[in-house]
Amino acid sequence: MRAASAPGKVILFGEHFVVHGSPAIVASIDLRATAIVELMESGDVRLSDGSRGNPAVRAAEHILSRLGASTGLIIEIRSKIPQSVGLGSSAAVAASSSAATLHLLAGRLDHSMILEASYEGEKTVHYMPSGIDTSIATFGGAGLYTRSDGYRRLDIELEEILVVNTGRQRRTGDLVLRVKEFSEKKPEIFKQLLDEAARITMEGLDHLRSKDLEKLGRLMNRNQELLRTVGVSSPEIEEAVALCLEAGAYGAKLTGAGGGGCVIAVADPDKLDKIAPVVSRKFEVFRVKLGVDGVRIEQP
Ligand code: PMV
Repeated sequence: MRAASAPGKVILFGEHFVVHGSPAIVASIDLRATAIVELMESGDVRLSDGSRGNPAVRAAEHILSRLGASTGLIIEIRSKIPQSVGLGSSAAVAASSSAATLHLLAGRLDHSMILEASYEGEKTVHYMPSGIDTSIATFGGAGLYTRSDGYRRLDIELEEILVVNTGRQRRTGDLVLRVKEFSEKKPEIFKQLLDEAARITMEGLDHLRSKDLEKLGRLMNRNQELLRTVGVSSPEIEEAVALCLEAGAYGAKLTGAGGGGCVIAVADPDKLDKIAPVVSRKFEVFRVKLGVDGVRIEQP
């Protein structure tokens, strides 16, 4: 038996536009998924509830095929990451399951193999994944992600933010398709938005490094406008954003695919103490730590 865990994530800037080549800033958060993998003499790979065809199972199967191993596996998932709300739960589940499987069978962790297997797992729930979720679940920390260059880990001086869960679950693939349709219907406008999204991400990086929360917040608000324009905001998101801003956040935006899911907000740490109880009257609120460990072996 072997156990491994991997973190969830928030995208601070650049979701959706990252699928179309623009850079994004992503950070791991201190909510983790754990996979406990056990060998089965005979049979196939399945979750402890019997299900197949999900990210954890597909990722473990990929590890088996890379190792040339044929064994049955049973995988138990314990996760603190809410599902289908933009916090990278499926990537964390896939990364932890592939790490536990690899360590159980080969006695080692190979991050590039885990990344590859997690990506295969992510494809079971996602249309055209950029790879951002599986990279952060595997490597942890925080940094810049582009489709062409992958993940570059950076020192980012932001320790905590607020995550507001609107509670509305949605499918990332549907929202990615919605943006693709926008890009095909309005290519010129989309190109301008893509360029602006890239500028916002790079400027955001400077403010993250200098920990200028006020400027960071303003940029988040602008990023939210771009996301609204391409059609991935929702009434719940707008309400959560407005609540955070009214309660004193410098900025707030959806994180991940949108259409519901989660909103993030930045403010000075003492202000976060005041904003959280106000927003939690309506929505579930997490105060999360950023930049935690990537995939790692745990005691089962
Ligand atoms: O699956 P989510 O909600 O964490 O969204 C992932 C971020 C997107 O940019 C919307 C999709 C992608 O693959 O980059």
